[in-house]
Amino acid sequence: MTSREIFADRMLSLGLARVSEAAAIAAAKLIGRGDEDGADRAAVDAMRLQLNMLDIDGVVVIGEGERDHAPMLYIGERVGSGRGPNVDIALDPLEGTTLTAKDMPNALSVIAMGPRGTMLHAPDVYMDKLAVGPGYVPGIVNLDMPPAERVRTLAVAKGCSTEDITVCVLERERHLDLIREVRSTGAAIRLITDGDVAGVIHTAEAEKTGIDMYMGQGGAPEGVLAAAALRCMGGQIHGRLVFRNDDEKLRAARAGITDLDRIYTLDDMVAGDVIFSATGVTSGSILAGARREGDYLETETILMRSKTGSVRRLHYRQRTR
Ligand code: FBP
Repeated sequence: MTSREIFADRMLSLGLARVSEAAAIAAAKLIGRGDEDGADRAAVDAMRLQLNMLDIDGVVVIGEGERDHAPMLYIGERVGSGRGPNVDIALDPLEGTTLTAKDMPNALSVIAMGPRGTMLHAPDVYMDKLAVGPGYVPGIVNLDMPPAERVRTLAVAKGCSTEDITVCVLERERHLDLIREVRSTGAAIRLITDGDVAGVIHTAEAEKTGIDMYMGQGGAPEGVLAAAALRCMGGQIHGRLVFRNDDEKLRAARAGITDLDRIYTLDDMVAGDVIFSATGVTSGSILAGARREGDYLETETILMRSKTGSVRRLHYRQRTR
């Protein structure tokens, strides 16, 4: 890369922060209003508008769904001005629609960008996920280990008792056995009602969040977004797609997936350098939410580049009157 290209890449990352900011600000108007679709639509509209101002030739690989069901930011949609680098875009304008509608913590606007062809085209099915933060040997825990063994292995590696381990899990009926088994080791469980991108990111800042490991089934697209975040922050994620019926297998086939049992590592999900930006919609342990202070609207964004390992926290204030 020439120094001019390196500079352009850096400037592009700042542009990406504006994209997640715009989506979060738009969704924030609907916090606590019980309108999931309205909040999602507002975030999508704002994100698309801002994204199309960037000088990129982008293709959405993780988006709002397939073209027939999602009018905008659908998988395969071309985004950006068309001038500039060829990139893959993974996005979730509002990760945590229910969290936003109910004004509950950790709803985020999220976007990640990497060179064309480097991100897994994950179909909209569930993925069984397992994530830990940085500092552990690669593959220290894996999806073939029973949940209790994962906890015990991590405790040994961390040099603590299993009782000092906290695992984050989505509160779903499908996770009852998992929760029971993890608790049988003495470990604690942090249940979240939604938002497993944030759930996984928590493991990368275990000292701050108190969460050592993430386990359980959530959306596969969210798995790729979480992998993009961990590529920047450090940590490991493993994912295996979960198919409930033939229609879901067909979705995988359309996404070019032939090995339905494959376990994906972080490198399989995000194979190159990535820029990741997330802005808080509702407040949580990673980011403050978008909020009104007098005549101003404020947001907090985390913007990261895996190439340099840079992590920026951007506080943005906009006059509203
Ligand atoms: P939405 O923002 O699209 O509602 O997704 C929220 C979420 O909790 C994701 O973080 C998670 O991966 C998925 O839903 C879990 O799906 P389900 O609610 O079907 O268990």
